[in-house]
Amino acid sequence: MQDVLGYAGRRAVVTGSASGMGEATARLLVELGATVTGLDVRPTQIDGVASIEVDLRQPDSIQAAAHAVAGPIDAFFNCAGLPGPPFSDLDVMLVNFVGGRQLIETLVPKMSEGSAIAYVASAGGLGWQQQLGTLMPLVQAAGFEEGRRWCEANAELIANSSSYALSKQVINAWTTWRAYDLMKDHGVRLNCINPGPTATAMMPYFHEANGKALVDAAQGPVGRYSTPEEQAWPLVFINSPRCSYVVGETFFTDGGFFAALQNGQLDFSALMPKD
Ligand SMILES: NC(=O)c1ccc[n+]([C@@H]2O[C@H](COP(=O)([O-])OP(=O)(O)OC[C@H]3O[C@@H](n4cnc5c(N)ncnc54)[C@H](O)[C@@H]3O)[C@@H](O)[C@H]2O)c1
Repeated sequence: MQDVLGYAGRRAVVTGSASGMGEATARLLVELGATVTGLDVRPTQIDGVASIEVDLRQPDSIQAAAHAVAGPIDAFFNCAGLPGPPFSDLDVMLVNFVGGRQLIETLVPKMSEGSAIAYVASAGGLGWQQQLGTLMPLVQAAGFEEGRRWCEANAELIANSSSYALSKQVINAWTTWRAYDLMKDHGVRLNCINPGPTATAMMPYFHEANGKALVDAAQGPVGRYSTPEEQAWPLVFINSPRCSYVVGETFFTDGGFFAALQNGQLDFSALMPKD
């Protein structure tokens, strides 16, 4: 069977395409025969990928970038993100969720029937189900400005729970909530992935903010960090037309870490470094 994942001649859009998982995803899509547009705050330098610059903290920039993207879009990959410190809590929330969601919602009218969206969350967003009551006003916030206002009004809560973790929890919550209407009203699938530690430009920030020992403790039984390509493959798989019955899924790509936590084989608190 040729073109197993069905990307030949399809149009794909990737955010965060200048680095890491987004860059690996854009490269892979080109190899799979897709027409690829990369969106990032920095230029995307991949042969065969059209580069559009966007700052996900700025609604005007999001609007202009969405306008510049040619439709119809068959697959959208939202990989852009910030790690937490030294970036401000507000910037982390805006890039990781408020702006990312705004870009997706602005592009939905350009998405073809049967198309799909994959959002990169994180295994760091564990426990989102217990936070649903807190997160739902942000999940349901109408548009960028209402999302930003929620973040500004809840600055203390965000600081106390870590902006990175909270931004990833809300992606999981939004994915499960928004997938229903996107499918019913537009025939568009929405899923997210929850990667474990991955060797990208973001990793030194995680080490600095949390300590290397804590990041290492989030490795699953695989016992190493993933490569960006090991996240790109599940992303292109879940957005492929071959996954046409996969909707609203929060897909763990974490080397078995979450599975082991769920059944008690790993106790994360016991793995955390003692002072
Ligand atoms: N690396 C990890 O261990 C890890 C683990 C779980 C989840 N993630 C998530 O994976 C995604 C990809 O991160 P990565 O590890 O490839 O890191 P990366 O730093 O290599 O890539 C992030 C990309 O986002 C872009 N970006 C940052 N601010 C932006 C803005 N204002 N507007 C538009 N684009 C912006 C950057 O320019 C960069 O190209 C992120 O959402 C991250 O939170 C990473």
